[in-house]
Amino acid sequence: MKVLAFNGSPRRGGNTQVLLSSVAQGVESAGGEIEIIRLADLNISPCLNCGGCDKTGVCVVKDDMGLLYAKMDEVQRIILASPIYFYGVTAQAKALIDRAQALWSRKYILKKKGEWRENTDRLGFFVSVAATRGEKVFDGAVLTVKYFYDAIGFGYGGALLVKGIDKRGEMAKAGDKLSQAEEFGRRIVT
Ligand SMILES: Cc1cc2nc3c(=O)[nH]c(=O)nc-3n(C[C@H](O)[C@H](O)[C@H](O)COP(=O)(O)O)c2cc1C
Repeated sequence: MKVLAFNGSPRRGGNTQVLLSSVAQGVESAGGEIEIIRLADLNISPCLNCGGCDKTGVCVVKDDMGLLYAKMDEVQRIILASPIYFYGVTAQAKALIDRAQALWSRKYILKKKGEWRENTDRLGFFVSVAATRGEKVFDGAVLTVKYFYDAIGFGYGGALLVKGIDKRGEMAKAGDKLSQAEEFGRRIVT
């Protein structure tokens, strides 16, 4: 099974990248295939709310998001990974999410014309790290991510959320969390 993973952290070698690498090891150890895309390497503009996709289901903005629409269409499993920034996801991850408005339009507007089909086998997952340990630290991001998956026609498969991880290198020292991440990866494809 093919898994498409988006890393929304702009920090190279950061905590999200380390956690996601362990998830990827789990996916591969269970026979899956994973492609990790670092969103900060791409040019993804914010949504303009121009209304173009309401009529066509296709975004009028021509940038790297075009490639991601195509990739998302090909897979049964997506992982969105992002550290918590101000109780939400990073700007890089949010740009991807907002541009999914074109897929939301296909599902909720164009469906009426028979141009969209539900595929209930597709699942999306969330992987996140946060510096603090607050009870609600992931709540905002989880809501956003759940709605993203709904918009793109994926069910919500669950989340791997790690609190209390801040400085570069801290994630790599949390061996128990990395083992959990491998297990999480295995579960995604089995
Ligand atoms: C702009 C910014 C906003 C942040 N906001 C939060 C926050 O609201 N809550 C929190 O627990 N951590 C917050 N953090 C800390 C990061 O989530 C934390 O450093 C994380 O480990 C970074 O992951 P990375 O190395 O993958 O980028 C913030 C960090 C930055 C740079």
